[in-house]
Amino acid sequence: MSTRPAPVAASIGRSPTVALLDEVQRRRALGLDVLNLSGGEPDFATPDHVVEPAVEALRDGFTHYTPSRGIPELREAIAAKLHTDNGIEADPGTDIIVTPSAKHGMFIALAGVIAPGDEVLVPSPAWVSYAPMITLLGGRAVDVPLDPRSGFTLTAEQLTEAVTPRTRAVLVNTPNNPTGRMLTADEADALARVADRHDLVVLADEIYEHIRYGGRTHRSLAARPDCRERTLTVNGFSKSYAMTGWRLGYVAGPTAVMREVVKVQEHTVGCASSFVQRGALAALGEASRPCVDDMVASYDARRRFLVGALNKIPGVTCDDPEGAFYALPDISGLGLGSGQECAAWLIEHAGVVVTPGSAFGPSAERHVRLSFAAPLDILTTAVERITAALRTEGAR
Ligand SMILES: Cc1ncc(COP(=O)(O)O)c(C=O)c1O
Repeated sequence: MSTRPAPVAASIGRSPTVALLDEVQRRRALGLDVLNLSGGEPDFATPDHVVEPAVEALRDGFTHYTPSRGIPELREAIAAKLHTDNGIEADPGTDIIVTPSAKHGMFIALAGVIAPGDEVLVPSPAWVSYAPMITLLGGRAVDVPLDPRSGFTLTAEQLTEAVTPRTRAVLVNTPNNPTGRMLTADEADALARVADRHDLVVLADEIYEHIRYGGRTHRSLAARPDCRERTLTVNGFSKSYAMTGWRLGYVAGPTAVMREVVKVQEHTVGCASSFVQRGALAALGEASRPCVDDMVASYDARRRFLVGALNKIPGVTCDDPEGAFYALPDISGLGLGSGQECAAWLIEHAGVVVTPGSAFGPSAERHVRLSFAAPLDILTTAVERITAALRTEGAR
């Protein structure tokens, strides 16, 4: 008997960032010296005060299923955090679901909201997994390409133009991967207006909320009275607390929709890992504040170095990211072709792995994404190698 893949699964591509990681490993196994700036992973260790309670939970035998929504004390802590940090009111009993990763959180949020044939507006550049998730659920991701010449500013006109009778939701990520932009008050107003006019659900991915620079303020859409009843907020522990491998996130939203979303969790993963939730509880405590501040200060120093160094390369222009840990330079002046071609050239000639901007949508075709969640000495070497390769290989 043959195993014929389902057309919908066959129709989506592999995650470009996961595929790049495989390529890094393949090259390293061949003994090649590769610097990987393609990942979205903090290079810091998870803080001890987070690790200890999880280890203790394991030793205490806290190793069984938990309620599908997550352990009550973690949901209470998330509700308190949402209230204090974000101005979002969510009942821990009914409005919050702890998920094994923000990725899964986004998936079940989408599953709870869209029906086959529904369209979801995805302003781009956008994180690589949104569109495949929507496709897997039978929906249609509608790319809303933002103009790089306007610094990828989101306008009501662009969103409105993309709306059809099938539009069900709009997905927004702030601070943004890959642009590093944060939604301005005007953009949030525009989005809220369009969502209200066309009765759209807002899916807000705020996973980088703590990683921001220059004293900028993070504004949660669900805190706005005009968005509260239509917004599902997705967040997680991976980025802020260097907990990528723990796989933990959460979704918060209005009671009626969360009642449906939780069923998707119940029938897929059941619940997030029990002992991991104990660690997450500690991550939300006061002890994390200095750890997060230190990590963000490091990212900021790296950001200033990397953006400064990239802008010194003739043919490269790079805006200052306001949040997250990615630089997205326009490399079209290098004479190496598209971002895709440039990324391939950089692996071959400089041994530096970056992500082609096209992975995030057509509006970033002339860009590549470099992660600065890597130590300063690696970033320094990477820039030296890129500069040397551009000089010696005569690419210009
Ligand atoms: C914008 C965005 N959302 C969600 C995620 C997923 O985070 P998690 O590790 O919790 O699945 C990522 C990870 O790269 C991301 O960049």
